[in-house]
Amino acid sequence: MLRTHTCGELRISHVNQPVTLTGWVQRLRDKGSILWIDLRDRYGITQLVFEEGKTDSAVLALAKTLGREFVIEAEGIVSERLSKNDKLPTGDIELKVSRLRVLNSAKVPPFTIEDESDGGDELRMKYRYLDLRRTPVRENLLLRHKMAQQTRAYLDSLNFVEVETPVLIKSTPEGARDFVVPSRIHHGEFYALPQSPQTFKQLLMVSGFDRYYQIVRCFRDEDLRADRQPEFTQIDCEMAFVTQEDILNTFEGLVCHLFKTVKGIELGSVPRITYADAMKRYGSDKPDTRFGMTFTELKNKTNLPPGGGKEGGVDLTSGKNFNVFDNAELVVGICATGCAEYTRKQLDELTDFVKRPQVGAKGLVYVQYRSDGSFKSSVDKFYTTDDLKKWAEAFRAQPGDLLLIMAGEANATRKQLNELRLLMGEKLGLRDKTKFAALWVLDFPLLEWNEETNRYHAMHHPFTSPRQEDIPLLETDPGNVRANAYDMVLNGSEIGGGSIRIHDRATQQLMFRKLGFTDEEAKKQFGFLMEAFEYGAPPHGGIAFGFDRLCALFGGSDSIRDFIAFPKNNAGRDMMIDTPSTISEEQLRELGLIIKP
Ligand code: AMO
Repeated sequence: MLRTHTCGELRISHVNQPVTLTGWVQRLRDKGSILWIDLRDRYGITQLVFEEGKTDSAVLALAKTLGREFVIEAEGIVSERLSKNDKLPTGDIELKVSRLRVLNSAKVPPFTIEDESDGGDELRMKYRYLDLRRTPVRENLLLRHKMAQQTRAYLDSLNFVEVETPVLIKSTPEGARDFVVPSRIHHGEFYALPQSPQTFKQLLMVSGFDRYYQIVRCFRDEDLRADRQPEFTQIDCEMAFVTQEDILNTFEGLVCHLFKTVKGIELGSVPRITYADAMKRYGSDKPDTRFGMTFTELKNKTNLPPGGGKEGGVDLTSGKNFNVFDNAELVVGICATGCAEYTRKQLDELTDFVKRPQVGAKGLVYVQYRSDGSFKSSVDKFYTTDDLKKWAEAFRAQPGDLLLIMAGEANATRKQLNELRLLMGEKLGLRDKTKFAALWVLDFPLLEWNEETNRYHAMHHPFTSPRQEDIPLLETDPGNVRANAYDMVLNGSEIGGGSIRIHDRATQQLMFRKLGFTDEEAKKQFGFLMEAFEYGAPPHGGIAFGFDRLCALFGGSDSIRDFIAFPKNNAGRDMMIDTPSTISEEQLRELGLIIKP
């Protein structure tokens, strides 16, 4: 190699040794008779020093011509620094340079390549290769590398086999739009890019592979957010001859292994909640359980919460002429500890928040349970102190607490209150990025009614098996059939999801019918899978983790982009290579395509 050591390696023990370093000029400080350069590579930074009278004059002259991000090779003697820098691992030493070679010059970079950059997002994405030189971004990718290595180590130790599955396939129904690739050989025909390797991993179970995994790219054409990219990576897994319990244990083990080996954290056993309870207590199927503030119902006129289960007919609000509550199916709230003294302005801000179109509530009722034991509420006109006291008891509130209450149709109200709960968690500093709370959400509904298409859609995907005891409901009450499906949630983010699969043709065919496929459509799209089920398909199930999301959470970031080497922006565009882009007339002709103006 051109170097003898890296820029992160030299210590006091190397003093007086001749060494050669290579790297990029991070910073130059020219004090006339003395010049310092911070030389950077992937491993760290080492200070180079050039001094009039001590350094060869030609070397000093050459050093003075260097600019930021020049690539150089510097040979010299390691010496102890007079003023040490305890912020740098190499801060005890510097290199007195005796020979200097410029390996390449560099244009002035469009933003500073330091931990805190002055480049905006778009600029950093356009020059992502420069952005990747920055330590925080590089560290994110190194974290990702470590997570991938540890994932492989864990799964390999349990006999999982990594198998690659094709990328040019046929549509897989994971609920998003497909990206498609036109065929040159078969004009008018298209491949779809996999939204996941779902059907292939099931076929591998039919093939007897027993335990499969793959760290695999998936493609989904959907609206992008901080935690969604059009191409993203899954840790995709499948096992044969298992129960749901086996899967939960195996993959809880994976997540614990990652926490332990990558972050040195003992996660402990992951709590479990049913979908129905998650909706009832948090209004979300991906609750952030780093904090409590669970829902308390003051009135519930629903008989069945989503996903089943019987309700008690609590009602502490009706009959006092407050129409909003009287007409509501559900009156439900949260207790914000120690917030009773919120000002009018603060309370108005909360009301404005829930009224935003993204949340969609009509309003918010508050009850201040003051430190002196008195009550002040926005519904004082309708409810007596005794009424409010009963509410406070239901909430297990203490003097000093603030009750925030919403009302309306049950599902919508729960979702709105979930947004408010997350906001309050944020305001109270309860969503600490260095704390981790994982959760299994179980017993998802099998089907979900879609208002737009006016039919049921698979909540997970059409290969998910219904719970045995709920199968009769498929005919009578499809919306309440529970699935053998589970999600893993970490800090309020869905990091993984899977299910026990249907493994017989008859049930799979029934499922397709329930989803509104004709037998012909089902055969055309999934005939290969249903046929495979007739050749001895073992019972099987699996899960896929969102690898980018897992990395972002481990790295304490909300955005998965920071953990992807070359991500797309929110418009699905790669700013660096400037794509999507047009193709030539020649290519279009070969593909038999005409672009409509
Ligand atoms: P699912 O669709 O739940 O399941 O996806 C699994 C996990 O992948 C992550 N994820 C995403 N991450 C980034 N960008 C996206 N656009 C994106 N979409 C999903 C989530 C999610 O939990 N085949 C099934 C798995 C199975 O049944 O085994 C599947 O793909 O973290």
